[in-house]
Amino acid sequence: MRELVAAKLGVDRGLGQRAELGVRCPLVLALAFLAACGGANPAPETTPAAAAPARAPGRAHGGAVRADAVVTGRPIVPADWQFSDKVAPVTAAHAMVVSAHPLASQVGRDILRGGGNAIDAAVAVGFALTVVLPEAGNIGGGGFIVYRDATGRVRALDYRETAPGHAAHDMYLDSSGHLTEASLTGHLASGVPGSVAGLYEAWKTYGRLPWPKLVAPAITLAEGHVLDAYRSRSIEAEAERLAQFPASRRQFLVNGHAPPAGTMFRQPDLARTLRLIADSGPDVFYRGQIADSIVAEMQRGHGLITKNDLKGYRAKWRTPIQTTYRGYTIYSMPPSSSGGVTMAEILNIMEGFDTLPAFGSAHYLHLEAEAMRRAFMDRNRWLGDPDFVRMPLERLLSKSYAAELRAQILPDRATPTPPFQASEGWGEDEGTETTHYSIVDADGNAASITTTLNGGFGSAVTVQGAGFLLNNEMDDFTGAPGQPNQYGLIQGEANAIAPKKRMLSAMTPSIVLDRNGNLFMVVGTPGGPTIINSVYEVIVNVIDHKMTLADAVAAPRINQQALPDVIFLERGGLTPATLDSLKAMGYKLQERGRQGDVQAIQQTAAGWVGVADPRHGGGASGY
Ligand code: GLY
Repeated sequence: MRELVAAKLGVDRGLGQRAELGVRCPLVLALAFLAACGGANPAPETTPAAAAPARAPGRAHGGAVRADAVVTGRPIVPADWQFSDKVAPVTAAHAMVVSAHPLASQVGRDILRGGGNAIDAAVAVGFALTVVLPEAGNIGGGGFIVYRDATGRVRALDYRETAPGHAAHDMYLDSSGHLTEASLTGHLASGVPGSVAGLYEAWKTYGRLPWPKLVAPAITLAEGHVLDAYRSRSIEAEAERLAQFPASRRQFLVNGHAPPAGTMFRQPDLARTLRLIADSGPDVFYRGQIADSIVAEMQRGHGLITKNDLKGYRAKWRTPIQTTYRGYTIYSMPPSSSGGVTMAEILNIMEGFDTLPAFGSAHYLHLEAEAMRRAFMDRNRWLGDPDFVRMPLERLLSKSYAAELRAQILPDRATPTPPFQASEGWGEDEGTETTHYSIVDADGNAASITTTLNGGFGSAVTVQGAGFLLNNEMDDFTGAPGQPNQYGLIQGEANAIAPKKRMLSAMTPSIVLDRNGNLFMVVGTPGGPTIINSVYEVIVNVIDHKMTLADAVAAPRINQQALPDVIFLERGGLTPATLDSLKAMGYKLQERGRQGDVQAIQQTAAGWVGVADPRHGGGASGY
């Protein structure tokens, strides 16, 4: 029985073997195995020092990186892990769209089926998410696209918000030097929105269908769509903040509360705004009638964004971060996002371990947490807007630097992050406020897009008469070096506020190629700084732990971000034995509800597999 199940799981293989696509290590089966061998709490892990197996887990290689890591042991996941049987992967022969809302994914699929390409679908889904996912989908925020065309050319588009021209280094500090709430809620929290410029730039460069046709589905949805339970709950969670601003109250609340699930949700102001954008493109947003509405809103609430700020906004093409991991190639977002650099550092550190402890074991989590810690220390120190700061990217991305960092990792002890200033961490249930979508079209063009208002519903300010929310992206700057932002991130001067500067992001839209250079995965997630670690975790779950994409996405996640010096973990995702072992190694642990909302696509022998994260209400749609 044990051998039979282990063979089916494909987790106990010898050197260099890879399971066939589609039959790899289903978590559900793994759980069945654990249950069969002792139930939800397998035998406690011995202390790290005593646990050394014949092949020392985490052993670093001395020479060339071998293709596959050897994973010692079977996955350790509690039998009642809440998401293991909740994934509904979708397989399609030609094309796939996965986003955080099923209606938006259907919009993208229809565009693809109607002759549009991946960028056409990216534009249409982006506008649709503005309507159906108001907590994160946006035209009042910004985002990033990593795009690989079918010929193999990869480019990155940065449409991150910029600080207004009148922004100042200490604008969020009170007279005692403490951060105020002004970077989170209200008019001062907003950077100059980049989404409309970014989507238009992508379309102008690569789009095939007429622009108005791509905005049209969003207009229809804004005229009325049925609100689902997820979105009703997310509005309710922010009802108090939304209620502070008249246009937000009118648009999202009924008697101070979210409309219940099943309500026909109508947003006539937003439909009118989208019609203007369909007819006139970004000009109307950055110079015309919508710009006037934004500036009037700023004047009403003492915000900073001016007509000149809007006129001056530009989306920018950038060279993607490219790295390799055990023969796979990974493309991700360069600064002004920290995502690509930080994830590459983590991957480079982990790549040097030619044997890996089992998924979910304390030894494995220890190695990951230490790799994450070191990469985040560099992130917080060095990274910022490339137009404003010089960054040692070549060194940060090099395998030799990763080897230096790897050599610092102790076999069985946490190494505390050097103090900056103590921080208490942050909220309970994290992960919905940004949103990611992944697209592959019938020609094999792939787009990986993450977009955000920053916090849920951004600044909570809806532009009066225009029906869309403004971001609170200014909180992603270092408001005060050494003091935590809403994500508990403690950052340095490289990311300090300056007029027209882009605030550092953690968004990590990524594309993975297999060892033959073929498109393999398109992946990304929301989640503030946890974004980087969640994307890393899904990628290595597939590559190292041979999980199907569905299991890789459902698997429990952790986050270590240097400061606060804790491992955040999803409640119920680790066994008591693993938790005890981590504590014995010196880790402080903090449980939270859910981490991230991954939307991913994988190429398999059966076609494109699309997986929407079961943690929230997304959907995959293909043909
Ligand atoms: N606002 C979240 C991020 O850009 O990382």
